[in-house]
Amino acid sequence: MAVFPRNLSTPAGNVLIFAEGDPESAARCAADRIRFAVDAAGARRGKAVLGLATGSTPIPVYSQLVQRHREGDLKFNGVITYNLDEYYPISPRDPNSYRTFMHRHLFSQVEIVPNQTHVFDGTVPESAVSEHAEQFDRWIEADGGLDLQLLGIGRNGHIGFNEPSDLSVEQALALPSRIISLHPVTAADAARDFGGDANAVPKRALTMGIKTIFSAREILIIAFGPNKAEAVAKSIHGPVTAEVPGSLLQTISSKVTWILDEAAADLLSW
Ligand code: GLP
Repeated sequence: MAVFPRNLSTPAGNVLIFAEGDPESAARCAADRIRFAVDAAGARRGKAVLGLATGSTPIPVYSQLVQRHREGDLKFNGVITYNLDEYYPISPRDPNSYRTFMHRHLFSQVEIVPNQTHVFDGTVPESAVSEHAEQFDRWIEADGGLDLQLLGIGRNGHIGFNEPSDLSVEQALALPSRIISLHPVTAADAARDFGGDANAVPKRALTMGIKTIFSAREILIIAFGPNKAEAVAKSIHGPVTAEVPGSLLQTISSKVTWILDEAAADLLSW
């Protein structure tokens, strides 16, 4: 009988594989790591700075965090958060904004100081959007950096909204937070949230850069389901290339943990 989680050491970091159909165990594992990071950073410097992700994958993780908070096992009063990305343009009140997502799944469910939760502002005028992105990086730095960054991965290997590109590895690793254009695969996948209409998906987004994400002290990357298997395998075993942004994690493998289910791990070799 298989014992879960399976634990693999790979070029892209430690990989934990959970049984298919058991996202709860995987989410519990992620929530344990987040709680540990919050406690450790709180003890070390009186606050914890978390980088957060949206998408369907982290939803069970947020449920676990909320549950722990309700049980009195996790406090958010010393926690500062920065979200990976946000569509542009979009109102924070739009049901599909990532601000709304975070409000629904976490911020409204726990006692967190509202002005300690940072999500890119999808309403800044065009003329100020680059400055707004640069400011996000400065705020993170001024807060002493991210203690832990939670990540998902796109079907095309994107992390945050750092889409596949033909940049050199050095250039990709130096990418700051900025405005980007969505890749067609990303827009197609996002369409399910916009009534199935890819044309309703904003064409652009603000994203933390690879440099910003990789400066986190610890990275947890989560992927579930067969749709992610190819991106996961290319990221973990493939060449390090900006064409598969997830593969760039191989350059910082010692601080990366992958949390997968069997379906997402299906194309890994070990
Ligand atoms: C969006 C987000 C990413 C996320 C990805 C995967 O593109 N910007 O940060 O990782 O979706 O989403 P899902 O978890 O729904 O597959």
